[in-house]
Amino acid sequence: MKESLLEIKNIAYNYQEEDQVLPVLKNINLNAAQGEFICLIGPSGCGKTTLFNILVGLEQPDQGQIILSGQEITATRGHIAYMPQKDLLFPWRTIMENLLLGVEINKGDLKAARIEAEHLLPLFGLEGFAKKYPEQLSGGMKQRAALLRTVLTHHKILALDEPFGALDALTRSKMQKWILSIQAKLNKTILFITHDIEEAIILADKVILIDGRPGTISKKQKIDLPYPRDKTDPKFVAYQKELLASLSANQG
Ligand SMILES: Nc1ncnc2c1ncn2[C@@H]1O[C@H](COP(=O)(O)OP(=O)(O)OP(=O)(O)O)[C@@H](O)[C@H]1O
Ligand SMILES: [Mg+2]
Repeated sequence: MKESLLEIKNIAYNYQEEDQVLPVLKNINLNAAQGEFICLIGPSGCGKTTLFNILVGLEQPDQGQIILSGQEITATRGHIAYMPQKDLLFPWRTIMENLLLGVEINKGDLKAARIEAEHLLPLFGLEGFAKKYPEQLSGGMKQRAALLRTVLTHHKILALDEPFGALDALTRSKMQKWILSIQAKLNKTILFITHDIEEAIILADKVILIDGRPGTISKKQKIDLPYPRDKTDPKFVAYQKELLASLSANQG
């Protein structure tokens, strides 16, 4: 068993609405090893984005801890790279200016980041696009630019909230192949939210199912298949059926 880089320990979270308490997450326990690819799936509203907000320190949990490399980081920011559910490229900034935004906000070394960004542009399929504006890029390119910006923050862990959700099927399939190659090259640990069971099985070492109100982890499924994965492989199809059955079973 590989040692955990990240430990999510017994997280609970409630939204406070005037005199009402809305329980959103409960008993969330999850470990991620260095280089592991973890997909989180679950119905809309089960608390996936909320969990990411807690993970990156934007929200404080009512209970539990986030531990990174043995150190508690609960409710503190700047440890985990975050790509939010909505792609946030600023239309008035060029791609390069967008890429450097995170480093700018963190008051990092802009010159070094620019050199690194230029070096990584080809790997992200954005060579020659540094001076263009977001509207001049395709949907897939915009998502790759947002991902490159996330990578430039140099964190070991990337939290990606439905990064391919808005893409057409073909582009999405290309992006899945591409992100696996990126992960192999950069050796990042990836937490990836998706609504798509097939996408989760194509990508993940481990699929985490969250559902219920409050959201809890109802299943942790290791995907024991070599990459690249073949959707027609009977084992692939069996994982798909099993995860779908688990998801439906909890939907009432
Ligand atoms: N600011 C807020 N105030 C009160 N309740 C909220 C707030 N943000 C989210 N919620 C509630 O918390 C629950 C979880 O929301 P969250 O955005 O984490 O779900 P999700 O699993 O990411 O959904 P989706 O798949 O649609 O993105 C929902 O029931 C939602 O209504
Ligand atoms: Mg969400």
